[in-house]
Amino acid sequence: MQSTITPWEVKGDIDYDKLLREFGISPLKDLPKVFTDDLLFRRKIVFAHRDIQKILDAKKNSKPFVMMTGLMPTGKFHIGHMLIARQMIFYQQLGAKLYIAVADIEAFLARNQPLEQSYQNAVEDYITNYIALGLKPDNCEIYFQSKRSSDAKKANAYYRLQNILAKHATFNEFKAVYGDISPAKMVASLLQAADMLHPQLAECEGPIPVVVPVGIDQDPHIRLARDISQRIKLPMPPFIQLSSTYNAFMPGLSGGKMSSSDPNSFIALTDTKADVEKKIRKYAFSGGQPTLEEHRRKGGDPDIDVCFQYLKFFFEPDDKKLEKLSKDYKSGKLLTGELKEYTIKKITEFLEEHQKRREKAGSFISKYIR
Ligand code: TRP
Repeated sequence: MQSTITPWEVKGDIDYDKLLREFGISPLKDLPKVFTDDLLFRRKIVFAHRDIQKILDAKKNSKPFVMMTGLMPTGKFHIGHMLIARQMIFYQQLGAKLYIAVADIEAFLARNQPLEQSYQNAVEDYITNYIALGLKPDNCEIYFQSKRSSDAKKANAYYRLQNILAKHATFNEFKAVYGDISPAKMVASLLQAADMLHPQLAECEGPIPVVVPVGIDQDPHIRLARDISQRIKLPMPPFIQLSSTYNAFMPGLSGGKMSSSDPNSFIALTDTKADVEKKIRKYAFSGGQPTLEEHRRKGGDPDIDVCFQYLKFFFEPDDKKLEKLSKDYKSGKLLTGELKEYTIKKITEFLEEHQKRREKAGSFISKYIR
């Protein structure tokens, strides 16, 4: 299948190596232990970067840095979104200050979702999940793009920056980065650039290294923000070039990217045990062979098996166990049905605990939104 990958559409098979080459992104390697202790980095789920050295240096020299990212609150919060949430929490534990955008303006401009719906999804689902996953209120600002802050100085600075960025962008550059683009999407890209750059304004932290963890489809936004930011001269102090990291997509149940617009592609963090059983048994794409006899003889392929990928991305933190599952699957000793049941058990155990934490999380939201 022909693949398409833009910030607003991901379709078909994704050739990550080709994307890295086309976009000019570097593979992540030689990370310090504080990074590889986290399975996302160790297992190369976060696999590429721009300018990560600035962040590694800040950490090494105990200098402050910021982690900035955001999510569009369209549809249910699922285990693919959890990838980004886990990185937020990782950087918070590393000592970063966090800026987290609820991209409600983007959801309106690019997905036609009313602001009220975004507000509801963010408060009842997205932010509640961030908190239940371990996000702490200290050193953390969550804001809505449509309502940056009750502190007018900060809010004005953010929207002013979006306009200054517009002044420094060209139409040709938009066409080169995005291909076909509408005025609404241009505005959304510029607002995202303001999201990523505004932590460095005097009204926020002042010039500071900022890392933006994203899925690789977001790189066009990063390229645009990086390019424009380096062209702005006075009246602002120069921006320190943005750093970014890229994670692989969580595969959808039947392959492709997990997407909130297709309920049979995702496992939501609010799914019940029965939902998980049904979804995994019925929809999870298997890397096993069509018959038992053939499977015993030829073995399965963990690299394309969706259950194995879920275990690898999150649900089997023990490397040795994961390795054994992979070996047994390849040799034919472990059957698809067995791998599915194991995955169901791991996911439901996680969700049961998570859903208890969610119950409590809702009442704390006001501590996170400034
Ligand atoms: N465009 C992102 C998405 O589709 C959301 C987003 C808005 C974002 N602002 C951001 C991501 C700043 C990273 C940094 O989900």
